[in-house]
Amino acid sequence: MEEKMPPTGVPHFVGKKEELIEAKRSFRTLEGRDILIIHHQSVFYAVDSYCYHAGGQLQNGDIEEIAGKLCIICPNHKYKISLAEGEGLYKARDPTEEKPVRRWYSKGVKQRIHTVTESNGDVYVMLSQCSNWIESDFFQGEKGKVERAKA
Ligand code: FES
Repeated sequence: MEEKMPPTGVPHFVGKKEELIEAKRSFRTLEGRDILIIHHQSVFYAVDSYCYHAGGQLQNGDIEEIAGKLCIICPNHKYKISLAEGEGLYKARDPTEEKPVRRWYSKGVKQRIHTVTESNGDVYVMLSQCSNWIESDFFQGEKGKVERAKA
């Protein structure tokens, strides 16, 4: 069975700010975890690289604003994931309403989000310290590689 070490809490240098801005999306492996660094509308985000649903590559997803939140759209089955919080968003009708209309709802946090900081033109990512299970954890590490291949 795979031994999981907790994240170290150490910020990792991931690149020069200008290079990451030009790249827009950058893939890094930090402490064995595959993450995606995104620069969008002057803000950096760092998210687990594989979609919580079935391990899709978020690197190729479009970004849209949904219900006031910037979301990456997984290219596989179009799940929407907010970049700042990692929430899964979905649209549905509430059948208890007299005239149900489709609205956006949150499934809660599904994708692990990491902390990006900048200093003197250098960019750092510190892995999430949240000890709760988050669904995107399933597709990380050696076991995750096997699961992604099955999906
Ligand atoms: Fe991302 Fe299915 S793998 S939506």
